[in-house]
Amino acid sequence: MLISREQIAYRVAALGADITRDLAGQSVIFVGVLKGAAIFLSDLSRQVRLEATFDFIGVASYGNRPSPAQEPGEVRLTKDVDQSMRDKNIILVEDILDTGLTLTYLKGLLLAHQPKSFRIATLLDKPSRRKKPIQADYVGFHIPDEFVVGYGLDYAERYRNLPDICVVPRE
Ligand code: IMP
Ligand code: MG
Repeated sequence: MLISREQIAYRVAALGADITRDLAGQSVIFVGVLKGAAIFLSDLSRQVRLEATFDFIGVASYGNRPSPAQEPGEVRLTKDVDQSMRDKNIILVEDILDTGLTLTYLKGLLLAHQPKSFRIATLLDKPSRRKKPIQADYVGFHIPDEFVVGYGLDYAERYRNLPDICVVPRE
């Protein structure tokens, strides 16, 4: 186990308070990246005291191929948002920021909607793996270069329902 459910709950509450303060008096659309961010979005949004709606976006990435090097074109949209984001406050909610290819692609896509504001909330950040210069506005935990599962994160679609975040052994 790398991060316990108690540690997660404590950080998610703090991030919710930050968002509530930063967007005081305004409304927000939480845009979750399927499927990994579903659990984080549901907990984070309930810690935010603002008028809020949900949307979800889906991507397929080919990032697990051993080679060649990943390119931005290797992220593909599988589900677009359901509504226009024009003049809205958007928070893009992701489970983990790794190379940054996924969020760089999604940021470009959502900025094309001309939102009022755009922010990124990620539960986990592996800064050592970054290939694109992208940062999140709200980060739960910075973690080392380990493959993790639980609290929404999967290994071959499994383990998303583990309440704690756990490391998958490399073997
Ligand atoms: P990026 O485009 O490289 O930043 O990749 C982000 C995506 O890769 C996340 O949405 C996850 O689906 C996946 N990913 C990256 N690292 C992990 C991990 O340690 N566990 C599970 N999924 C991961
Ligand atoms: Mg994911």
